[in-house]
Amino acid sequence: MQIGPYPFSVRVVLAPMAGITDLPFRKLCRRFGAAFAVSEMVSANAQLYGSIKTQRKIDHRGEAKPRVVQIAGADPRAMALVARFNADNGADIIDINMGCPAKKICRQQAGSALLRDQSLVRKIIGAVVEACDLPITLKIRTGWDENSRNAVAVAKLAEEEGIAALAVHGRTRACGFHGQAEYETIREVKQGVSIPVIANGDIGTPAQAKRVLDFTGADAIMVGRGARGRPWLFQQINRFVEDGVMVDEPAIEFQYQIVAEHLQALYAFYGDTMGVRIARKHLAWYTKGLPGGSEFRRQINSETLSVEQSRKVKDFYQRQLADHILAA
Ligand SMILES: Cc1cc2nc3c(=O)[nH]c(=O)nc-3n(C[C@H](O)[C@H](O)[C@H](O)COP(=O)(O)O)c2cc1C
Repeated sequence: MQIGPYPFSVRVVLAPMAGITDLPFRKLCRRFGAAFAVSEMVSANAQLYGSIKTQRKIDHRGEAKPRVVQIAGADPRAMALVARFNADNGADIIDINMGCPAKKICRQQAGSALLRDQSLVRKIIGAVVEACDLPITLKIRTGWDENSRNAVAVAKLAEEEGIAALAVHGRTRACGFHGQAEYETIREVKQGVSIPVIANGDIGTPAQAKRVLDFTGADAIMVGRGARGRPWLFQQINRFVEDGVMVDEPAIEFQYQIVAEHLQALYAFYGDTMGVRIARKHLAWYTKGLPGGSEFRRQINSETLSVEQSRKVKDFYQRQLADHILAA
């Protein structure tokens, strides 16, 4: 797959997830082989440019190229401005959000709500493509609802307007996150355009990744929720998809090393107080399914100090290791 000047030797990318795909998590996923990692969405509301939240979202310190920033909004001019703002602040690729089903976003007719208005889709893409020289990508769902599954039409107009690659989540807006993602529409999209198509939705294992790539003919797949607490999934997917090798879950010592590094990165990025809070959800995902995990999560949720949080995490993983050795 190639997007603008960027060629990719692997076929899996990290999906944008608000509240999750911050700089520390993106770097971790890239390290494990994600071809690229899309940032949390940056609002087109210019009044927010200076906010701490936005400043964190546009922080790319130490992030490998290409840095992909997602923008969200419904006004073509504001979208053009936020695209340029990000181009000036280190983005290499701009991704337009037309896939988010969140009420907060759709109420402003942004995100997946845009799929109902193809002429507005065209105007937004045209304005953003015109505004900056970077490759512009687009993320959509298959349509607004069952009766208006217009992904193929949107994909074609996106290609005409200069979109460099398209990610398609195999659900309509109305589906939210319910039911199973379907890949037939993604296959039709792939057949209908010649820009790279990235298939997204419910891909959480190397075998699923391969099945979706084979079925849709997509150029790459995009993983969101499956990577939470498992950034090494990218390595597992790459080895299986590219070489047919199924890699085991990493040893518990290695998992601890990654978790500990992730915690330190969160404390450094957000500061201690907020870092501890943000770390809680990641720790819940990392420890899901591990023995004693639910008790650990209860304990950790009342912890407010980073040193104490780190110590409890260390103790938890040491117990995992001891139990593992005893059981062997
Ligand atoms: C917590 C959360 C936040 C998300 N935020 C965004 C977002 O900001 N922009 C976007 O385009 N999609 C967003 N998504 C959708 C994901 O990018 C992805 O399309 C969806 O989760 C399906 O992929 P998955 O089954 O691999 O998770 C979000 C999903 C989750 C779970």
